[in-house]
Amino acid sequence: MKEIPFQYQVFENASALSQEDASLLLQARAITSQAYAPYSQFKVGAVALLNDGSRVEGTNQENASYPVGICAERVLLSAIASLHRNKAIKTIAISYHNEKGKSNSPVSPCGICRQSLLEQTLRQQQRIRLILSGQEGLIYVIEDATTLLPLSFTANDMQ
Ligand code: THU
Repeated sequence: MKEIPFQYQVFENASALSQEDASLLLQARAITSQAYAPYSQFKVGAVALLNDGSRVEGTNQENASYPVGICAERVLLSAIASLHRNKAIKTIAISYHNEKGKSNSPVSPCGICRQSLLEQTLRQQQRIRLILSGQEGLIYVIEDATTLLPLSFTANDMQ
């Protein structure tokens, strides 16, 4: 039997984080209000801190044709790849506001976004940290986004 370890840190609230992480998370929480989520009313905000210190925001963008909608994480990754070419991402804070329910426990990226985070990690050759939390409650910190996708498929598999 083989095992793949998965580790993450848990914090009680934003004041337990470093100043930089707390400020990223507060920004992610705030920008959930800018999401376009009229169908799910589940508003997601993602904020990236790049290596040069700049920050980029992304929110989910839905569509009347439901599958056309894009998660906040992939909106963010595409924006960075287009507008900040060749800059690496250090950390991404992800939060949400569920207008139909609770927003008090962390959610982690969906499967497609995990694959996109993996591609970006390989592209920039640097780990991407994730900070996950709702509007309140526990905060999860994952040091390497690719650990969310064990046994993943990459370009190497096509050689
Ligand atoms: N969503 C995200 O933007 N990121 C996630 O990590 C999970 C889900 C969006 C997609 C859809 O617009 C809404 O949340 C409900 O699934």
